[in-house]
Formats: sequence, C-alpha cells, structure tokens
Amino acid sequence: MPSLLAGDFGNLEASAKKAEASGGDALHLDIMDGCFVPNLSMGPDVVKMAGRAVHIPLNVHLMLIRPDLHIRRFVDAGADTILIHIESACDVSKTLNDIREAGAAPGLVLNPETPWEALRTHLDEADEILCMTVHPGFGGQGFMPEVLPKIEALRRAAGAKDIVVDGGIDLKTVESAARGGANAIVAGSSLYSSKNMAADLLLMRQKVDAFHG
Ligand code: DX5
Ligand code: ZN
Repeated sequence: MPSLLAGDFGNLEASAKKAEASGGDALHLDIMDGCFVPNLSMGPDVVKMAGRAVHIPLNVHLMLIRPDLHIRRFVDAGADTILIHIESACDVSKTLNDIREAGAAPGLVLNPETPWEALRTHLDEADEILCMTVHPGFGGQGFMPEVLPKIEALRRAAGAKDIVVDGGIDLKTVESAARGGANAIVAGSSLYSSKNMAADLLLMRQKVDAFHG
C-alpha cells in the first residue's frame, strides 16, 4: 500500500487519490509526534481528508509516545486500521482492545531493533503486525536487511496473520521481504517517485503473491 508521507504536501488530496487510482488496496498514513520519533507529520484532519478523497481502507500508523490518548480521534477521523508501537508508553493490551471496541482493526508495530518476542503475548490481540525495516520517522531511507530473520521468526509464530513491512520497500527489496514472510507492504518514496505507480504496484503485488498467493 502507498504511504502518503511521500505524497505532495502541497496537494495531499491528489496524492491520496493517486494511490487509489493506481490500484493501492489501502492508504498508509504516518502520524508522528516529534517525540516518539524526531519528526512531525500529520494529524487526524489529514486522515479525515483522505477518507473523503478515497474509498480504500485507511491504515493509520501511530508513531506517538501515548497513542492511547488519541484512539477515539483517529477512529472518528475514519481510520480503518490503527497501528501502535509496542515500544510506546501505554498499556498495549488495553489500547489494542480500545481500538477494536471503537470500531477499527488493531495492529502492532515493531521497531527494527525490537525482538519479535516483545509482542508474543499480544499476538492474539492484533490483526496485523508491522515490522519496521527502517528507523521510523522519515521516508526515503534504505531497507535494513538485518530485520529479515525477525520477519521469518514472526511468520513462524504468527501463522496466517498479516505481516506487513514498512521502510525502504522498492521493486528490489520487496522480494526479500516477501520471501522472509511479509504478505503486505508499505511503500512511500519508491511509489511516489515512480514514473508509473500503477505498474510498480502491480509488480510489487506479483512479487508478494509469488510467495503468498
Ligand atoms: C517511516 C514510515 C513509513 C514511510 C516509508 O517512519 O513509517 O511508512 O512512509 O517510506 P519509504 O517507503 O520511503 O521508506
Ligand atoms: Zn509507516
């Protein structure tokens, strides 16, 4: 799925529509508080705008120290999935449950250096697991292949659960991520800088389906 962080901040509506028109099956929105990560990005109003602009699900990635304080706001804004970091300072079980009770699908995110075992006790509480393959905070960084063994271990532990990768995914790196066990991907700069987002999305999907189809 395309990540709006790499879209045109002068016209995010057009960038969201481009993701849908190019065949994106969801739109990824990165929310940063300038504290959990050293960057500030967008808030619930951008999620609301995206919900008006497109009909594909909104996959909202909260890079916040206290995501639990903002769940209601993002659900009301139209988030279909809300992902929180296992490293954030909240009661993870309660927050995942709050997300579900508020009507969205809960997901858990792991930073590159966090071992998968950190979420072992939460596996049943999350609908999807997202593995960061860069240090969160900025788009356009290089894929970290050292995360691959963790993705493989997670795939063994998580059975059929959705495992998503986020960070540095392009037509090359998507293959090793999918081989390692990821069945869904987030891609920002590679897709938004592509001359043909639709063609690249299709190629990425084919590469993922080759392992998970
Ligand atoms: C990074 C974000 C990513 C970002 C990925 O903190 O979580 O979703 O948009 O961007 P690329 O694909 O450029 O690495
Ligand atoms: Zn993200």
